[in-house]
This record gives sequence, structure tokens and C-alpha cells, in this order.
Amino acid sequence: MLELALHVLDIGENAIRAGATHLDIDIREDMASDMVSIDIVDNGSGMDPVLRSRALDPFFTTKPDRRIGLGLSLLAQSAEAAGGTVHITEAASGGTRVTATFRLHHPDRQPIGDLGGVIAMLLSRSSMLDIRLSYTGINSSFVFDSAKLRTELGGLWIEHPAVLTYIRDSIRAGIDRASVHTT
Ligand SMILES: Nc1ncnc2c1ncn2[C@@H]1O[C@H](COP(=O)(O)OP(=O)(O)O)[C@@H](O)[C@H]1O
Ligand SMILES: [Mg+2]
Repeated sequence: MLELALHVLDIGENAIRAGATHLDIDIREDMASDMVSIDIVDNGSGMDPVLRSRALDPFFTTKPDRRIGLGLSLLAQSAEAAGGTVHITEAASGGTRVTATFRLHHPDRQPIGDLGGVIAMLLSRSSMLDIRLSYTGINSSFVFDSAKLRTELGGLWIEHPAVLTYIRDSIRAGIDRASVHTT
């Protein structure tokens, strides 16, 4: 996987499959610790402790049509290759929390990538889903909140192509302003 955003896509798809209606995504770049952290909390059905302990195993999936599930194990591989870690815990809602860290300036740390495109894609996948993204970069920070946008849109659907394009482009612009560009 070439971009951190594609890991976010996979975690988001896992959450949708677990019936989540809300995703809280918190991304922070921190110069002092030289780390970038991605923290994603969903309110889906959650994992029992046995499932959680096996979730990073590349040969484990609960998808009926497949025998391997590479998503979370690939994330762990990417994090470890960049001097970081992955933790999967139970969220307060009973859902799942995935926290991944990466060394910000590690040569093998993947770039953030097209997070705007990924958020727009996840919102288009499920009309039941809301996403709150909080992005704290080296230069500035911003918040995107689809629930807030829904009320501002009035009658317009969030799945409308023009709205999804607006979401994608405004998140891209926010990250451009906020983020350190190392790769
Ligand atoms: N957010 C989540 N909520 C509930 N279960 C999850 C979540 N994320 C992952 N899982 C469980 O962990 C398994 C492994 O996930 P993953 O590594 O992404 O592989 P895959 O999605 O291909 O099955 C999934 O099949 C699912 O059972
Ligand atoms: Mg997956």
C-alpha cells in the first residue's frame, strides 16, 4: 500500500461492514515526537477479545468468501516499517478503535495521500455513515464534519457528486495547508 489514506479506506470499510454509522478520524503530525498518528473510532458491532487478538494476523478474516484478510496486518506492517505501532482496542461505544503511529520523517513512512478522495468515497458507500475528521498538521489544523455539513446542505444529499467533489477538494486543500511534506 502506497499511501496512508488507503489504510484509512480499509479501516473505514471494515467499520462499514461492522454496521458503523459514525467514524471519528483523528490524524496528528507532531514535530516534537517526530510521529504521525492515525486514530479511528467507529460505533459498529465491535470485536470480541479473541477476534481482536487475531485481527492483525494476515490469515484471519471473517469475510465468508475469502480466506485471508490483509487489511489490518498490512497496516501493522506499514507502521512497523516506519518505526511505529498499531493498537486495536474497544471504543467506549462498544465499537472499535484502531490507533496507528508512524515516525514522521522515517524514510519508509508512506505519505498521507488522497485522504480527501478516501473520505468522499467512504461517504458515498453508505448513506447511513457520518465522518468527523480532525487533522492536526505541523502548520495548521482543520476539522471536517459530515453531520454538520448535512444540516448546512438543507435538501441536498451528501452523496450528490458535486457535494462529494466539494468534500474531496476541501479536505485536500486543508491537508495541503496543514501538513508537512516529507515525501
Ligand atoms: N472496525 C471493525 N469492527 C469489527 N470488526 C472488525 C473491524 N475491523 C476489522 N474487523 C474484523 O477483523 C477482520 C480482519 O480485518 P482486515 O484485516 O481488514 O481483513 P478483511 O477486512 O479483509 O477481513 C475482519 O474480517 C473483521 O472480522
Ligand atoms: Mg479490511
